[in-house]
Amino acid sequence: MKIPIDGVRLQKEIDELSLISEQPAPVVTRVLFSDADLKARAYVKNLFQQANLAVREDAVGNIFARWEGRDKSAPPLATGSHIDAIPNAGKYDGVVGVLGAIEAIRGLQKAGFVPQRSIECIVFTAEEPTRFGLGCLGSRLMAGTLSAEKIAGLRDGDGHDLEFWRKRAGLAGGDPAAVRITENTYAGFVELHIEQGPILEQRNLAIGIVERIAAPASLRLQLTGVGGHAGGTLMPGRRDALLAGAEIALEVEKAALNSGSADTVATTGVFRVEPGAVNSVPCRAILEIDLRDTQLASRDAALKKVETAAAEICQRRGIGLQRERINVDAPAICDATLVQVVSGVCQELGLSFTKMISRAYHDSLFMARICPTTMIFIPCRGGISHRPDEYSSPRQIADGVAVLAETLCRLAG
Ligand code: GLV
Ligand code: MN
Ligand code: MN
Repeated sequence: MKIPIDGVRLQKEIDELSLISEQPAPVVTRVLFSDADLKARAYVKNLFQQANLAVREDAVGNIFARWEGRDKSAPPLATGSHIDAIPNAGKYDGVVGVLGAIEAIRGLQKAGFVPQRSIECIVFTAEEPTRFGLGCLGSRLMAGTLSAEKIAGLRDGDGHDLEFWRKRAGLAGGDPAAVRITENTYAGFVELHIEQGPILEQRNLAIGIVERIAAPASLRLQLTGVGGHAGGTLMPGRRDALLAGAEIALEVEKAALNSGSADTVATTGVFRVEPGAVNSVPCRAILEIDLRDTQLASRDAALKKVETAAAEICQRRGIGLQRERINVDAPAICDATLVQVVSGVCQELGLSFTKMISRAYHDSLFMARICPTTMIFIPCRGGISHRPDEYSSPRQIADGVAVLAETLCRLAG
């Protein structure tokens, strides 16, 4: 079926959405349930409604937009991604998978396609970990991977919990643990996303089809030292929390470099110091550390190394250490049949492609636990992401949407 994709309209919507941000363009920042995020969610819901999709939201704000199929009893086929954005991000991460899904659906509607099974576009809540330190919050909850205790313990940097933010987002009522869905809710999930790495561009390929998603883990360390006047406190006997943190951050780098696996990556992405005054010895440091690998063994060994090093450094420096494993996730294996279907679509559309690993995590990591899942990657310039200069061309995006649309057609037809 020839599915018309309106790349100009899609680009206009991507540009419009990028202007709904906590920071001026070209920076995109949309932390979960911030004013900008709420406005962006309203923007997307409006597009869903214009496309005649039935919109509902669950208790944590996952948005579901359904194009009803002929067979209402058949499990729907799902697509979608996220629209929240980390601080200082660009306009394509997540957004291409949401606005691209809307364009794919509009294209299918225009082509006269009538789905047999329903097609549902999902906008997941907090794929990014910025608010609560935990990524993929919405899909984790849908997959039932979080205990009630863990949900109740979620806090943002200001100490606000999920209930506070649910109320602020108008989601009061409902139980976050009850957004869990069963394994046969969806027939499959296909997420369109920018690659966030350089491989497709380097190999001049249009499409990547994801076979595995690397295993992410993250740690939060709270280091408690003794503060004091930067002039009056002599150097011997200081218990400076920042210096312990600095040593730990170097061990994080070492743990990845010496893991024996080229795929181990480790980042100390959060390093907050209190009281944060130039003339005061830091009494407290909070570090959030992200570790990943495609192989579980090397990821877990690196994680252990960092934890052991942190304990040793804090002991030696007289610093109190509180350690929390925020998440320690397994990798995802994508569904071979879906990978095959997307490969066939690329062949038919004459688009070059490769099968590949996703080093970034996505809501697909958790959807893969409850239904057959794969992802469609498109190139992004220089492999750059999580930066304002993130870029995929309108042509690259339109190719990805064309593959998604044809895939939805085959799987829901
Ligand atoms: C997702 O944004 C990730 O950090 O991989
Ligand atoms: Mn991201
Ligand atoms: Mn993303």
